[in-house]
Amino acid sequence: MTKIDRRALLAAPFALSGLTACDRFAWAQPKPPVVPPLKSIAPFPVGTCVQSSQTTDPAWVALAAREVSQLTPEWEMKMEYILADGLPGNGGSGLRFDAPDRIAAFAQAQGMRLHGHTLIWYAQGAEAFAGLEGPRFVEAFDAYIAAVAGRYRGKVVSWDVVNEPVTDEGSSLRDCHWSQALGQDGYILRAFQQARAADPDAVLFLNDYNLENNPTKGATFLKLVERLMKAGAPIGGIGSQSHLDIEIPAGQAAAFIRDAASLGLPIHISELDASLRNGSRLDLRSHATRIEQQSARVGELAEAFTALPAAQRFAFTVWGLRDTDSWLRQGERDDGKDQPLPFNAAGQPNPMAAVLARAFA
Ligand code: G3I
Repeated sequence: MTKIDRRALLAAPFALSGLTACDRFAWAQPKPPVVPPLKSIAPFPVGTCVQSSQTTDPAWVALAAREVSQLTPEWEMKMEYILADGLPGNGGSGLRFDAPDRIAAFAQAQGMRLHGHTLIWYAQGAEAFAGLEGPRFVEAFDAYIAAVAGRYRGKVVSWDVVNEPVTDEGSSLRDCHWSQALGQDGYILRAFQQARAADPDAVLFLNDYNLENNPTKGATFLKLVERLMKAGAPIGGIGSQSHLDIEIPAGQAAAFIRDAASLGLPIHISELDASLRNGSRLDLRSHATRIEQQSARVGELAEAFTALPAAQRFAFTVWGLRDTDSWLRQGERDDGKDQPLPFNAAGQPNPMAAVLARAFA
């Protein structure tokens, strides 16, 4: 993509042809790069997250069918959806599977792999499990995993069995309703054992975020994986969500991938997005600078992943296809212009798509 220099742009003489403000910059909008389908270039599965409503959106279906070969339910295979009517045995009227079933059927019809997300997460389930103590809690914990992982046995290739076990600060494990009932490593070990019992074939992942952005958190996460493997947990893979901070130092993302690969397990880049915003009110970076930073960090991560041995390249999943599909562009989070994903709202390639294509090739 030709780099538009902001100063040159503003100094450029515009024909006084009554161009309106937006027209006069129309010619300045860089043309979208031409990028072959990502799944056709990558020597490993390329994925995206999906909501059941998207499976009936022709534009989304066409783009997904062209670009990816794997799907992750964005939220409808989580407790917040499945236990929306409460936990059976604890006042609930039953598990809700209509939306995740639609997603599983869509993936099957499209010939796409399905990655299950997520069985046990500190962020959900406290309300549904409230009031359960001791053996009743453990029984409900086991029964939930058996019901959900059992239902999708043969439909998912893998699961995020436990999501986000490490604290944001990064040097310890989260204390949550699961750890309070079963111990900090205990709930994770049990979740993996129950998931393995429910689905003998699925690749079972431990998944977390900021592992590249925060080296302390990355190290704590890998030490946890090692400890669980030594304890006999059937961990089959490491999930790095990779919601990238594009201002981290060069080399930091590749260093984490190298450290993660040293455990010998398959790696899933499970939720890549790379916001152009950094949350500070005084963000003076030009758009061009932000795109340069995003391209550099996403390129570094994608190249490090592509350089892994084939057996360790489980999949490379982006957390949405079009910028406007991103969780970062929903509700009050939406600034109306962030470009965290490979495609723009119209489904045309952003610079990120070209960066990924170059790295995967
Ligand atoms: O679509 C419904 C809408 O019909 C309803 O009116 C509205 C109000 O209840 O909810 C809408 O669903 C929301 C859904 O996103 C779709 O926008 C859910 O409430 C909301 O909880 C859900 O948020 C998801 C969030 O995880 C919590 O599950 C985001 O989409 C999803 O992107 C986000 O993904 C997480 C990963 O699972 C773990 N890693 C971090 C990542 C980003 O937070």
